[in-house]
Amino acid sequence: MTTIGNAGVDQRLTQAPHDARPTRLRRTATLRGLVRETSLDVSALIQPLFVVPGRGIARETDGLPGIRHLSADEAFQSEVSRLVSRGIRSVLLFGLASSKDPIASESFADDGAVQRAVRLLRQHFDDLLIITDVCCCAYTSHGHCGLLSGGTIEPESTVELLARIAVSHAEAGADLVAPSAMADGMVRGIRGALDEAGYHDRGILSYAVKYASAFYGPFRDAANSAPAFGDRGRYQMDPANRREALREAALDEAEGADLLMIKPALAYLDVIAEVRAKTTLPIVAYNVSGEYAMIKAAAASGWLDERAAVLESLTSIRRAGADAIVSYHANDVAGWLQPGHGR
Ligand code: PBG
Repeated sequence: MTTIGNAGVDQRLTQAPHDARPTRLRRTATLRGLVRETSLDVSALIQPLFVVPGRGIARETDGLPGIRHLSADEAFQSEVSRLVSRGIRSVLLFGLASSKDPIASESFADDGAVQRAVRLLRQHFDDLLIITDVCCCAYTSHGHCGLLSGGTIEPESTVELLARIAVSHAEAGADLVAPSAMADGMVRGIRGALDEAGYHDRGILSYAVKYASAFYGPFRDAANSAPAFGDRGRYQMDPANRREALREAALDEAEGADLLMIKPALAYLDVIAEVRAKTTLPIVAYNVSGEYAMIKAAAASGWLDERAAVLESLTSIRRAGADAIVSYHANDVAGWLQPGHGR
């Protein structure tokens, strides 16, 4: 029988609960594939990489198994070649300093590790999306993310410094700069400086919503960027706050951010979903070092199936509303998603 009109449709949607059999849609793998709501594609993954000063260096980091320190030469180039051959198209670069001072002089140096690595990649990989982290915690002797005055971050000089770093990255050939210092007004300052230097076409991926998280531990060891005193609670967000995330996101959008980052990812899926509902900008979630280390450690102990746990975690981040994901797992995932690996 054909029912015409809204009445009939409504009736179908409100089928009696005892008739409902959601498992019908799970009967075969093909059917499950047809109704799958979220996909995890390698094009949505961004691989973080650590570049160090010097030559011929490729050594394991502590706390981030499988992630290496690489110098801006053949070591770096061959690592990126491997990623590209697996289908990874985007990388996020972090630099380490050869010497630190209170004003992070090396962070914007033309021959700094990041600047050299960006030039090298730009020269060898046409379609690679090169994103650079813009912060100074790995370059300051005190290990904080900005310039200090009386023990706290001084916003104006910090924004000026971040803008100078961003321009040096753009000059080297970065596509997107990703300021992670959580300094007020940093997006506006960086946008102004990029435009003034003629880089109207380079984008800003702002770490708009960045929490003061315990899950950055392995990264700080790897980047040698732990604060020498105190913590980052005066500039990074309180993990207890959700409304504040909307405020931070709205401000960065108004200041000219092209994409918004939310970080960490897994303990903040509610925040990703909420920001998703309020912005039309692309959202990138950062599946941080501690999240990576937890799965790696559990898998090494035989307590978790690594591949299943990683794919489930990253899918949940996409389901929450992230368009792209920065993840140390990207390389492994790209391998698992290659044809022939099944799923
Ligand atoms: C720099 C920065 C940090 C991370 C990314 N950029 C460390 C921090 O804020 O202390 C953390 C990334 C990770 O844990 O994987 N400010």
